[in-house]
Amino acid sequence: MRIVLFAILVQACLLVVCDTDYTSIKGSNYFERPKDTSIADPYPFIIKEKYSKGLNFLAFGDWGQRGNATGQPQVAQGMKIWADKYKVDFLLNLGDSFYQDSGSTVPFNDTKDHEGVLSINDPKWKTYWLDEYGGNLRKIPWYSVAGNHDWYTNVTAEVDYFWDVDWRFFLPSLYYVRRVYFGPKNTCAVFIHIDTDPYYYNYTSYNSTNNLKKTLLQLKLNEVSEIKSRLKWIEDQLIKAQDADWIFVVGHHPLEGFCQLQSPNYYLMYLLPPVFKKYGVSAYFNGHSHELSYSAANSTSPVTYFCSGAGGATLGEGCGGVTWTAGTTFGFLYVNISDDGKDLYFEYVNCNQTNTPPKVLKSGNLKSRKYKS
Ligand SMILES: [Fe+2]
Repeated sequence: MRIVLFAILVQACLLVVCDTDYTSIKGSNYFERPKDTSIADPYPFIIKEKYSKGLNFLAFGDWGQRGNATGQPQVAQGMKIWADKYKVDFLLNLGDSFYQDSGSTVPFNDTKDHEGVLSINDPKWKTYWLDEYGGNLRKIPWYSVAGNHDWYTNVTAEVDYFWDVDWRFFLPSLYYVRRVYFGPKNTCAVFIHIDTDPYYYNYTSYNSTNNLKKTLLQLKLNEVSEIKSRLKWIEDQLIKAQDADWIFVVGHHPLEGFCQLQSPNYYLMYLLPPVFKKYGVSAYFNGHSHELSYSAANSTSPVTYFCSGAGGATLGEGCGGVTWTAGTTFGFLYVNISDDGKDLYFEYVNCNQTNTPPKVLKSGNLKSRKYKS
């Protein structure tokens, strides 16, 4: 009964937020937590959404950190302004949601200053998330993926939080797919949310003492065959998405610029771009590199790689070899897809200073898969 009531409540909330219906798959209820599955199993149902006009969303990652040289409050303020002004529909949370303080010297799982969250009852849910993001940001879904800092203590708690506490931190599993219909022509955008941690960290050589290695083992994502089975799942979702006007993949770790190249530092990440290219992915969104940057689609690949990892954690170097980078600045990415579904417009917004309004640093356009020349 509790699950049924929760499902009804969630669906009612989503109806309010998105101005139209969320339709469950016939014969199933995708807001009921699957039984006997692991968080590493892709969520078995495609989540459907419908919006009456074009799509507006924000994308950012790497945000919940306090201490020297961090910038969460100023990015939160800038995003609030954008979210209210453009009435954004949702947000892509690109992971590394919760960190220890910058320069922290206590253990990763210290009860007061820890990586990630310790449980669904961790006070950081309130202090780093609910209290920081106001206005429209407090009402919309945050479609999330997990980053390495989320894995360092208890990544399962972030999935549990979605199921047991607040659906707005949207993370039903580490892998899930949304099929989004929008505008008067029912344009379709497919979002494939993936966990890139098993692709980025080599279980055999990883030697940090946090919980990442232990969790990879627990979830059986230490085995290359299992990692490749997730790649097969991604490929299967891309095949199913071929009718879509837009296909987006959302993950934590970078693939812009030189990060697409095969390197021991990036383990199996190099397996992803050829698959994205083969199936005409429109764009990949990531964080982890603490910067704003992107690699544009080109004559050899239709994929644009958007990095938005400057959400508040201490800034750092990116991949290099990109089309554009803002260098060291805090900020976020705003995306609008037109009502007719043909055009995507993006803005990288600078939130580096608290005493001036946020400022657009870079903007650009993409064409939908059906209207590319
Ligand atoms: Fe990261």
